[in-house]
Amino acid sequence: MTVSPGNRRIKFALFGLGRLGVIRARILAFQQPRIELVAVCDTKPGTDKWAAENLPPSVKHFSEPQECLKNSGAEAVLICTATATHAPLILQALDLGLHVMCEKPVSVDIATTQAVVEKAASRPDLKFLVPFTRRLNRVIAFGQVAVYGDLAKYGDADNAWGLVEFANGKIFKTYLGRTLTSGFEDTTRLCGTKGHSIISANSNVEIRDHLGIRTQSVPDAFTLFDATFLADLSEFADAVLDNKPMTCQPEDAFEAGKICAALQYSFRKGVPVYFDDDGLPIMESK
Ligand SMILES: NC(=O)c1ccc[n+]([C@@H]2O[C@H](COP(=O)([O-])OP(=O)(O)OC[C@H]3O[C@@H](n4cnc5c(N)ncnc54)[C@H](O)[C@@H]3O)[C@@H](O)[C@H]2O)c1
Repeated sequence: MTVSPGNRRIKFALFGLGRLGVIRARILAFQQPRIELVAVCDTKPGTDKWAAENLPPSVKHFSEPQECLKNSGAEAVLICTATATHAPLILQALDLGLHVMCEKPVSVDIATTQAVVEKAASRPDLKFLVPFTRRLNRVIAFGQVAVYGDLAKYGDADNAWGLVEFANGKIFKTYLGRTLTSGFEDTTRLCGTKGHSIISANSNVEIRDHLGIRTQSVPDAFTLFDATFLADLSEFADAVLDNKPMTCQPEDAFEAGKICAALQYSFRKGVPVYFDDDGLPIMESK
């Protein structure tokens, strides 16, 4: 097939074929007219078999990330690996002149996130997108281990509450739970001066049958966010191919990273965390 410049597709390599990666792989291979998936890479044995069975034969599987970065022929990468590997892979990809899209978060560490954002800014010729990220004054977080006792060993919780106060006075309240076993709920409630909206409480599906009237939630987060996984890739391809602006900037990922690091610190130390004039959380070590 001859592809005219206007129809040019950007060659992509996907890193990580885990829970989210397999969803991304199918979208890249079959649902993105402006993207050609040329390679996938996962260090886990068995992922080559999954790729052979589920992706076009033209998609090459790599089990060695360095080899994939250098030899896949990709112009762009989507990083969907374990969080600790995001920053090194992003930095290596940018050094090799590849456009980078990476799942949130860049890192759980503020200094590392800052280094990545600065590196991306030093390469204005390359697009860098961390989709799905959302200035601030203080945060406080609480958590409890209700079901999975071992999480406490790692300074983690299965249910956590966070309160974020932004510099402009707006307040964001969040609740995260790992113990919701039936269905998935992701509610956003926007409280305004004249009213408020509840967005996507669980689903808009109401079932009326012989059992009565009930609403049904989606089984997991991925079902709920399916459409966003298509939209962000499509936006990234348009940015690379047509130099269109993107809705998420690297700085957004940095801001999100700072909020998360401060919430985690507050939860672990049992103290509120304030932010300094430079917008950095005041913690014992930044
Ligand atoms: N955008 C979203 O809404 C969203 C949703 C869920 C998860 N995430 C993020 O996506 C990432 C992946 O999440 P997941 O649930 O799929 O994780 P997962 O643990 O199921 O999969 C990660 C995969 O990466 C592979 N891997 C690890 N290091 C690698 C490396 N250096 N090179 C190649 N492969 C490597 C692992 O073998 C595994 O198969 C996480 O960082 C997570 O925070 C984003």
